[in-house]
Amino acid sequence: MYVCLCKAVTERDVRRAIDEGLASMRELRRELGVCSCCGKCGPAARAMLAEAVPGDRPGAVGRAVPGEPAAAV
Ligand code: FES
Repeated sequence: MYVCLCKAVTERDVRRAIDEGLASMRELRRELGVCSCCGKCGPAARAMLAEAVPGDRPGAVGRAVPGEPAAAV
């Protein structure tokens, strides 16, 4: 199923990226392009991150990266 229609990114693509170590929306945006156009895929991508990433890694959903503002959740 597509998570991001604008960039043709599937659920499988996002899960693979998370399995390979991506742990923030910033990283998903940079690597896959999710949430880089209309943004409608943001909630689904964030939910997939929240489900897969424990939340205690720097840059994880809702966690601040030192020197950067915290991402909106
Ligand atoms: S659906 Fe992902 S940016 Fe539009």
